[in-house]
Amino acid sequence: MDQIVARALKIPAEDDMTDSFKIDFAPLAPAKAEKRAAPEKAAGSKVDSKTGSRTDVPHTLVIFAGEGNAFSAATLQFIGPAGEALIKRAAAVAKFKGKKATSLEILAPAEIDADRVIVVGAGPIDDGRQENGRKEAVEPVPADKTAPGASDYANLGGFVCGKLGRGAHALVAFDLARAPDDLAAAAAEFALGMELRNYAFDPYKTKKKDDSEENSRSEIIIGLSDPAGAKREAKARLAVAEGVLTARSLVNEPANVLYPEEFARRAKELTKLGVEVEILDHPAMQALGMGALLGVGLGSVRESRAVVMRWRGARPAKDSGKGASKSKSQPIAFVGKGVCFDTGGISIKPAAGMEDMKGDMAGAACVVGLMQALAGRKAKVDAIGIIGLVENMPGPQAQRPGDIVKSMSGQTIEIINTDAEGRLVLCDLLWYVQDKFKPKFIIDLATLTGAILVALGQEHAGLFSNNEPLSENLLAAGLETGEKLWRMPLGPAYDKLIDSKFADMKNTGGRHAGSITAAQFLQRFVNGVPWAHLDIAGTAMNSPSSEINHSWGSGFGVRLLDRLVADHYEE
Ligand code: BES
Ligand code: MN
Ligand code: ZN
Repeated sequence: MDQIVARALKIPAEDDMTDSFKIDFAPLAPAKAEKRAAPEKAAGSKVDSKTGSRTDVPHTLVIFAGEGNAFSAATLQFIGPAGEALIKRAAAVAKFKGKKATSLEILAPAEIDADRVIVVGAGPIDDGRQENGRKEAVEPVPADKTAPGASDYANLGGFVCGKLGRGAHALVAFDLARAPDDLAAAAAEFALGMELRNYAFDPYKTKKKDDSEENSRSEIIIGLSDPAGAKREAKARLAVAEGVLTARSLVNEPANVLYPEEFARRAKELTKLGVEVEILDHPAMQALGMGALLGVGLGSVRESRAVVMRWRGARPAKDSGKGASKSKSQPIAFVGKGVCFDTGGISIKPAAGMEDMKGDMAGAACVVGLMQALAGRKAKVDAIGIIGLVENMPGPQAQRPGDIVKSMSGQTIEIINTDAEGRLVLCDLLWYVQDKFKPKFIIDLATLTGAILVALGQEHAGLFSNNEPLSENLLAAGLETGEKLWRMPLGPAYDKLIDSKFADMKNTGGRHAGSITAAQFLQRFVNGVPWAHLDIAGTAMNSPSSEINHSWGSGFGVRLLDRLVADHYEE
């Protein structure tokens, strides 16, 4: 076990993406459609002696077809009339019609400078955006709502990456039948989608599936008319991708490796990117009065930790004397539940599926990934990330049902069920972050309740909030990124359900409305500060495969919150 403990966050140096997966941008040169020289005659070209294929050119050409196999102008120039005729013939045989999420793979005709051609359907976009809101359900979908959004290009990138497989040398002719509004941004999203799809968590697999996987380097060139613009955009997008992958890896790590101290150590690595990182240990939290958070970790031999991260990317507020508006210097704050393993504690969980509880720190993983993304793309924002890291175990020192703990706020909590531990961790962090930083708003993320899976399944995360604009902005960011949210209710009648006979409140509210009573509990610690709580128990782990994710941990929330910040809270 010892030899697998230490691992670093993957924080790439400037301009250096994953070495085994390289994406670059280049002009889409129509002159390429010249007849390809016979390999042995092609000046300066290298030929693999075994396979006979050239190693100095992209082996695969990816082109896009619209509905009914319509190609746009640059693609047509690229493949030439003979190429077009052949592709159309192959399409007819394979009944390929250019529909979204379908593809046609053929051996490259002699006219085309590649070994294989993958024709990818980019037909009508149905992105499900009309599904998230009652308004659109009863009114006709306006024409511009059918225009592709960012997540469509990311999904397209993911789809292409999946088709290419590992170790591909490919040229992607990024020339879509329906031209994007912002070509550079669309291409950057496409590249982001490829990066996300390419991710696999396999550090513990000692046997690779086959030899070729060992050193299968992929080199992808995205050809388009604005390579410089795309490159610029992609730099920021790929920083976000790195943040997502960090979150995924943290969620995927087993709990014997990733316990609170080790998690904190990894978060500390964000200092490399210019993030200020402070670690609070048990005595420090005790001094602060965080009795609710610390109570959760009592049954574990692993000591609890909290990590406070700050990215100061905003220009310092103009120093125009003491009367200057203070709001400029107010940071925004993100809070994450980091239960490194949740056995349930004394109220122990059943055995079936308990292994999934290694992912009960996905909220914290998202906050770390988000801070990495913001710092990596040098976002012009002042952001705090704070995570509470504990292990919920039964043991001689563990807290019991019936125990009463005192939170940092001074409010007392009767523990009814030791398995309702996430709210106990969050409530002290919510209090601390307000007390110390006076944030503009707070967003917390937590794999908080199984009940949110019952309500929303794995499609939407639950959104609970006391603030309309913040909710609107979050819902919109969800639609743009495909990390969708669904607003859930709060109210005094639900709040009453957590009143306690013996203390100020109890930590569970009974059988009904489990996700809502959990949110009500948190709301007792927010003091009217604009706040949103995202219950990500259904979306952060055990994820269904998608175009951009084949990993158990999805990294849910990083792209969502990065988008929220980019759209509304940067200077
Ligand atoms: N970590 C769990 C919630 C969870 C369940 C996350 C399934 C991911 C998948 C949380 O700590 C928990 O145990 N919640 C209890 C609360 C109950 C005891 C009031 C639950 O949902 O059953
Ligand atoms: Mn629990
Ligand atoms: Zn939990």
